[in-house]
Amino acid sequence: MQVDGVAYRTIWPARDGRAVEIIDQTRLPHSFETARLETVDDAAHAIRAMRVRGAPLIGATAAYGLWLALRADPSDAGLDAAAETLVATRPTAINLRWAVDAVVQDVRPRPRSERAEAAFAKAGAICDEDVAINRAIGDHGLHVFRRAYAAKTGDGPLNVLTHCNAGWLATVDWGTALAPIYMAHDAGIPVHVWVDETRPRNQGAALTSWELGRHGVPHKVVVDNTGGLLMQRGQVDLCITGTDRTTASGDVCNKIGTYLKALAARDNGVPFYVALPGPTIDWSLDDGGQIPIEQRDGREVTHLTGMTDRGRIETVRVTPPDSEAANYGFDVTPARLVTGLITERGVADASRDGLLGLYPDRARPAAE
Ligand code: MRU
Repeated sequence: MQVDGVAYRTIWPARDGRAVEIIDQTRLPHSFETARLETVDDAAHAIRAMRVRGAPLIGATAAYGLWLALRADPSDAGLDAAAETLVATRPTAINLRWAVDAVVQDVRPRPRSERAEAAFAKAGAICDEDVAINRAIGDHGLHVFRRAYAAKTGDGPLNVLTHCNAGWLATVDWGTALAPIYMAHDAGIPVHVWVDETRPRNQGAALTSWELGRHGVPHKVVVDNTGGLLMQRGQVDLCITGTDRTTASGDVCNKIGTYLKALAARDNGVPFYVALPGPTIDWSLDDGGQIPIEQRDGREVTHLTGMTDRGRIETVRVTPPDSEAANYGFDVTPARLVTGLITERGVADASRDGLLGLYPDRARPAAE
């Protein structure tokens, strides 16, 4: 995607061949800054501190993190330690483990002298694949948007509500939930996006709004509890979100608050779509209740950071000093509330049969 006329991905190898570079998402929307990751610890810290975030992008960062680790220590022990460090950074998004496993399986059979180079190539392939997948999600989602716009009664744009950030900043490029929005906008469908602020870290207010603004997509940021009212008033034509892990039965784990939007959508007859790449499906799980839910520092709830009118970045406390906070990062939307799963292979019902229709290669062999 373009930032001030320059095409960016969210992660790329540094020109000097000694690091990878990222867009530091903790600085957005107030400042666009890139950062170098030179060691596996830099990569792990970037994921944990959410300088990079979003399920596909943390997978891509971990893949490059293994390259950085193997440059320093290409032994089996070095590989295993780095994989463990990276997988431990964030527990919910399955793409992280998927990417780490993909690199480990590729490099382990190779001689030590070839491992770093192979990891670098594999990380690059994972990034390229992510971009291709998201483009395909955008194409399939565009059909959904076209149909929704054609079916819309009354004037005005197609009103879409999204939660968190599942745009290009959450992936290597294009995004998942935002890819159809970009494609619809580029195809001339008038789209207006309701952007949930997405407390506590405000990925909607800070990142989705920034992305949409750079692309010229009309949008409004709303506080997290607004969606129900908008849906009751007929001001939302469809909802679309990303996901950090989707079970083989179609339960969708995504940023905290997604479930409540899906409930409101069902109550008001608003279609609720989830966009996801194949690597986000956890084929080992049938029940979304088994997905580990990340709990983060309560300080993300008790404090807010933003820019003052004088242009200074400041952090302030919004709760009484003696109030504790709980900070659950994700929730699970049961498959029954999901209208469709938009993948790189097409749109599936949120069910085991629906997913297997698109990914027949994942069918478990029948028990003997
Ligand atoms: O905590 P985050 O910012 O990493 O959470 C991101 C989300 O919840 C996204 O919706 C999800 O990763 C899908 S991104 C394509």
